[in-house]
Amino acid sequence: IQWEKQVRVSALPRRPAGLSVLVTGAAGFVGAHVSLALKKRGDGVVGLDNFNPYYDPSLKRSRASLLRAQKVFVVDGDVNDARLLAKLFDVVAFTHVMHLAAQAGVRYAIENPHSYVHSNVAGLVGLLEACKSANPQPAFVWASSSSVYGLNDKSPFSEEDRTDRPASLYAATKKAGEEITHAYNHIYGLSVTGLRFFTVYGPWGRPDMAYFSFTRNILQGKPVTIYRGKNRADLARDFTYIDDIVKGCLASLDTAGKSTGSGGKKRGPAQYRVFNLGNTSPVTVPEMVSILERLLGVKAKRREVEMPGNGDVPFTHANISSARRELGYKPTTDLRTGLKRFVKWYSSYYGYKYNQGKSVH
Ligand code: NAD
Ligand code: UGA
Repeated sequence: IQWEKQVRVSALPRRPAGLSVLVTGAAGFVGAHVSLALKKRGDGVVGLDNFNPYYDPSLKRSRASLLRAQKVFVVDGDVNDARLLAKLFDVVAFTHVMHLAAQAGVRYAIENPHSYVHSNVAGLVGLLEACKSANPQPAFVWASSSSVYGLNDKSPFSEEDRTDRPASLYAATKKAGEEITHAYNHIYGLSVTGLRFFTVYGPWGRPDMAYFSFTRNILQGKPVTIYRGKNRADLARDFTYIDDIVKGCLASLDTAGKSTGSGGKKRGPAQYRVFNLGNTSPVTVPEMVSILERLLGVKAKRREVEMPGNGDVPFTHANISSARRELGYKPTTDLRTGLKRFVKWYSSYYGYKYNQGKSVH
């Protein structure tokens, strides 16, 4: 079996002075960035990813190579694999789990509902089962999603707002994940932090996301399809830059654990926390396309269609007061600056010429 060859006790990192973190979805967009940031500051990291073909697996392989070059140990395996997890937890005393593995994307669920159940429900439970009995029991930090707010019409979204109207199966599985982790917190005293990310973008991003596929289409002279809401209203997203998300993830790991009891001497009950990690300034999709046009120096062929009712919500907008207060989370990158960095990465990764705003295929 592939992973049995990979998991050699001698090759796994010893527990460093800092955190010892299992990062699932480490070859994914957010997972790769978080793993690198943890490694850079001296924490121990083991990555786990099943390299599934939801989008170009070669991009996942490139991210994993980047991690391996920095001596991050990356295991090719599935969070549903109980034997693999048992072996990993047996060999490494993880202080924290950063669970980022998931079937992402809202529209893919229409044709592929079972992959959401496999990774976001069954896989989550498999991982929680491994965590609940591990010694030490790791603090569990994981990616929920802004999509849990669903068709909420109150803006901005606060953590206590209603989450009972999911617009997609993806959203429903993330909402289920919140309930499931809460139950493990309650029954097994597992410390849980759920992070509701808002449309994350940046270098090494996901080719299935709009900013990425729009860049590709604009450069290749192909049309970009812009969804519009009821009465032709623009859709808007609280696009959040990857470096800001990474800072929020690291702050969550650093503050995760059991809350201290009276006088700080006794360990109190395990935490259950949920935070929005957004940018607090939504931008419409047509405006996002205009920013890309300016950065690429190419006019997009815009094709506007009515929102197809396949899982999208009209807008997202985060209230981040809780994360600001409890985690010191403070996003600093606006969409133009973040997309500029993305376009620069895109041009070098895919070999497009990029010179002072002029891009040539
Ligand atoms: P991604 O698809 O790039 O990363 C997820 C990784 O998990 C992939 O590399 C995939 O191969 C891996 N994976 C999937 N199922 C697995 C399984 N069963 N076992 C092992 N590995 C598995 O997505 P991302 O954008 O990096 O998202 C990271 C997390 O953040 C996900 O949980 C996602 O739902 C959540 N999230 C992302 C965004 C965003 O805009 N990027 C927004 C909100 C929430
Ligand atoms: C993103 C991620 O893909 C999800 O995994 C994540 O959970 C979610 O953010 C979140 O914040 O919770 P989404 O906002 O739909 O989901 O991201 P994109 O697929 O990049 O879409 C961004 C916007 O562009 C949306 O308004 C969408 O309707 C629009 N869009 C997308 C188009 O107008 N045309 C397209 O062809 C694709």
